[in-house]
Amino acid sequence: MFETLPDPKLDGIIALMQAFADDPRMGKIDLGVGVYRDTSGRTPVMAAVKAAEARIVEEQESKSYLSLAGDAAFLETMRDLLLGDAVPSARVAAVGTPGGTSAVRQLCELIRLARPEATVWVSEQTWPNHVPLIRAARLDMRPYRYLDRDAGALDRAGMMADLEQVAAGDVVLLHGCCHNPTGVDLSLQDWAEIAALLERRGAVPFVDMAYQGFGEGLDADAGGLRHLAARVPEMLLSGSCSKNFGLYRERVGIAMAIVPEGERGRLAGTLAGLNRQVFAFPPDHGGRVVSTILGDPGLRVMWRQELDAMRERVAENRRGLADALREATGSDRFGFIAGQQGMFSLLPLEPAQIETLRAEHGIYMLGDGRVNMAGLNEASVPVLAQAMAGVLR
Ligand SMILES: Cc1ncc(COP(=O)(O)O)c(C=O)c1O
Repeated sequence: MFETLPDPKLDGIIALMQAFADDPRMGKIDLGVGVYRDTSGRTPVMAAVKAAEARIVEEQESKSYLSLAGDAAFLETMRDLLLGDAVPSARVAAVGTPGGTSAVRQLCELIRLARPEATVWVSEQTWPNHVPLIRAARLDMRPYRYLDRDAGALDRAGMMADLEQVAAGDVVLLHGCCHNPTGVDLSLQDWAEIAALLERRGAVPFVDMAYQGFGEGLDADAGGLRHLAARVPEMLLSGSCSKNFGLYRERVGIAMAIVPEGERGRLAGTLAGLNRQVFAFPPDHGGRVVSTILGDPGLRVMWRQELDAMRERVAENRRGLADALREATGSDRFGFIAGQQGMFSLLPLEPAQIETLRAEHGIYMLGDGRVNMAGLNEASVPVLAQAMAGVLR
């Protein structure tokens, strides 16, 4: 029965990971896959996570099934972390999911159930996996302009002009912070203008938050989505604990629908039903680690300090690379790197230049020029800057 299946397309990021692993050169530099790395290139288990895991192992008495929505303490502490007091809890329907990826997918399925004719608008560059996740739910998709590539900044006029085209009932996907892959974030003023536009057009925002704490700080990073949630009647929100808790392989995510109070129960039941169809119960261990940390003042402080240090390291790499490129190229055209947020930037390089960096210098980045800033350190920043100056000459 399987002979009719086409050959699967290899995912670009996975293929790059494999090519990097197979490269025997010493000093190769991995700026591909989007995981945080410390100065020695490791992705360590956070100390707060280890402490929470030890407590769970000691105290947990059962691993029997919980509810289809997952652990109530996880849902509550995550609602708090993401939304603060922007909306009353009676407006928030939430379920746990295996990672932020499944949260996006489940919310797309929710859109499909509620309004199959809706178009989902995505920023012109977006996390590559958004596209297959939306398509898998058989939803129409349209791009809106986002990045002014030469300036490394928001194409504000283009974005707003495109969003004027959304129809009532359409869905607009926004990155909560640390836009992947551009590193270009919306200001609070932009969020306020988008909120007003979506309200006027009768469209529904869908915020995907995968890097809370990696931009300016936990609360500052959520400022835009909180403004939106407080303002619009309906909103979708997906969250991931992969990066800010370093729980990548534990698969910890949350899918939320923020709705008028009377509709919360129906939405919570529908989301639980969608979980039932795919994986039934969300994984528990990682979510329990998160709620243990967030619910304990001591562990929370420890975690925040570790997260602050990760954020600062990435910001330092950004400043270092911008300075090194200024020196190596004699121009300020890469100054934008220092001002962007989060782990990623999209470098304005041609495919042939990206290939030369890989072939001649062992520097691996995605085919569109996306680099993971956390993959750099003091030693590799000048190597990258010199190599880039070379291919740009
Ligand atoms: C924008 C965005 N959304 C969601 C995710 C989902 O991450 P995960 O499924 O590992 O929680 C990612 C991960 O790279 C991301 O960049």
